[in-house]
Amino acid sequence: MRKKQNFKWDKISLGVCYYPEHWDKGLWPDDLKRMKENGIGTVRVAEFAWSIFEPEEGVFSFALFDAFLDLVEQEDMKVIFGTPTAIPPVWLTEKYPEVLNCRKDGVLFRHGMRRHFNYNSKTLHRLAARVVRQVAEHYAKRPCIVGWQIDNELNCEINEYYSESDTLAFREYLQEKYGTLDALNEAWGTVFWNQIYSDWNQVFVPRTTINDMTNPHQMLDFTRFISESAIRFCKMQSDILREYVKDGDFITTNGMFGNLDNHKMADTCLDVYTYDSYPNFAYCMKENPKNNRTLNDRKWSKHLAEVRSICPHFGIMEQQSGANGWNTHADAPAPKPGQMMLWAMQSIMHGADYVSFFRWRTATKGTEMYWHGILDYDNGDNRKLREVKKIHERVQAIADIAGAEYVADLGLVRDYDNIFDAQQDVWHRRVADNSEMEIFVASQLQHTPMDTVYMREETDAEELKKYKVLLYPHAEILTEKACHVLEAYVRQGGCLIIGARTGQKDRNGQCVMKQMPGLLSPATQSAVTEFTLIGPDDDAVAMNWNGKEVETGVFNDILATAGTDAKVLAEYSGSYYKGCPALIETKVGDGKILHFGGTFTRNNVRDFLDYTGILEPFAGVVHAPEECEIALREKDNKKYLFVLNFSKNDQGVELCCEMTDLDSGKIEKGAVTLAPYETKVYRFKSE
Ligand code: GAL
Repeated sequence: MRKKQNFKWDKISLGVCYYPEHWDKGLWPDDLKRMKENGIGTVRVAEFAWSIFEPEEGVFSFALFDAFLDLVEQEDMKVIFGTPTAIPPVWLTEKYPEVLNCRKDGVLFRHGMRRHFNYNSKTLHRLAARVVRQVAEHYAKRPCIVGWQIDNELNCEINEYYSESDTLAFREYLQEKYGTLDALNEAWGTVFWNQIYSDWNQVFVPRTTINDMTNPHQMLDFTRFISESAIRFCKMQSDILREYVKDGDFITTNGMFGNLDNHKMADTCLDVYTYDSYPNFAYCMKENPKNNRTLNDRKWSKHLAEVRSICPHFGIMEQQSGANGWNTHADAPAPKPGQMMLWAMQSIMHGADYVSFFRWRTATKGTEMYWHGILDYDNGDNRKLREVKKIHERVQAIADIAGAEYVADLGLVRDYDNIFDAQQDVWHRRVADNSEMEIFVASQLQHTPMDTVYMREETDAEELKKYKVLLYPHAEILTEKACHVLEAYVRQGGCLIIGARTGQKDRNGQCVMKQMPGLLSPATQSAVTEFTLIGPDDDAVAMNWNGKEVETGVFNDILATAGTDAKVLAEYSGSYYKGCPALIETKVGDGKILHFGGTFTRNNVRDFLDYTGILEPFAGVVHAPEECEIALREKDNKKYLFVLNFSKNDQGVELCCEMTDLDSGKIEKGAVTLAPYETKVYRFKSE
């Protein structure tokens, strides 16, 4: 079972990100007063302020933040204090260039951007540890501080590390993992293309190669190593902070980025996890060409489900409050009236109990001068500030929802080995990316809330029991442990759905010499006899399921039964494998496994949800159009129904039973119209 989070907010509340070092001191008192007047009670500071605390090596200065915290305390407001390691100062990187990260070809990353350091340099660890200790020692007892944020967005901007410090640490990591070079050669399949190592000094982090081709098994270990390096850096900081933080104050960091086992980081270093939610990214011109607009800002609900799997009751450390924009990229429109509220409610609906806006006022200088905050450069009251006040009023009306559970019968199963493998394996990625997004879209459009569930070392059947259906789309890498847990989940009554290419690989990412689904086949009593991707010239292939033609996606495994409990539910209805099994159901204990040969599409997922009896769990409570997202949070026998209109048009919903509108306090039933971007929260009692 996973460790539970150590810290929870007891009321939903609002905060903001603020950079006292960016502004004239004279602005601070008025800024804090206006924050408070508009419902903002907490301020996150200092995550980039290393040069302010340590202007020269070993010389520390606390005056600026002392003065700022004095004012915060006068206003009776709260602070989340950042450890300032996200940008090492110029004096540091010039004197100790070994702390820098670099390109694959060895060219060092210099100042101008941020996060240009590596996690493995001993010098960086030493100097980062020192500044963290100094800051913690100096500030931790301040009454206004309620929590600590470690660094800022570990692995954002860049999540690959190729410096010399990384190579040295990678060798140590591999020596510990494999013990001998023989074992490493075996795991990496180095006999292929003459890569056999005869000395540890020949082993490097991936280097420049022709067409950037790298040994795939090495890449898998390299990615795991990056994750471990980031976690070690984070743990170094949290261990120091723990010596100083006051009772009740939390340690967090703001995620969630790639090449990083965020679950392990949260479990080993943090009390609570926070996320930075910028749904307006969906409308950036360059990042999102017209053909990549699936669900637009609503797609952030997928990220939020992921965050919930790390920490059920999380915070949003940075919530979008203005137009995106660096001077070089990420150009998006200003949020329309109602969208700030919509995005804040999206976070809250998915489990956020603290929402802090980025940032109080837009920077007048630097790369981020178009990344807009609540206030614009002129510092006047504006529409966004008025919207913050409305969000505050709304949050007060629903503050008790803090700690309520998000309710879902469906779990989308993921794991880091497969995520890391799919990042570099184009066959794997083709099936994984397609299916995961389509499953999410289906769950959204069919109003069937979904959790993300991670298979980890400590995951057991007990933890999975709460889901009626688990969809583990394409676990190419399967371990014996995972198979046991999945089988135990099914035996106790669960329904597991697996898709094409399940069980193709071992943990090194090497293909196993067995028919798929490999280690899972004793349970599924099925086997893959042949397989193919659907090529550009191929017609889409469907399967006939109970007389209905159902899509089979972008890859087809041709199945056969391999046991007496296995029953063919559907056969392919096209291509050279017409008539062959495409979907096999096997009863296992009190539950069942559905082995599907295809990949998932929004249409076939609807059929799977229907077949397994979990489609639209709130159909008896509310009817809503596809444009609205619906979810339920539940606590102390009270149910809170969220209805969010993501569209720019009015949407009509039908409440099938009496519910209290938490804004007006009125009892509602029947037809309700939601204006563009409008959100509603209703409370009703459990039967
Ligand atoms: C976040 C980051 C902030 C700010 C913001 C807008 O990723 O944590 O520091 O850069 O994006 O770009």
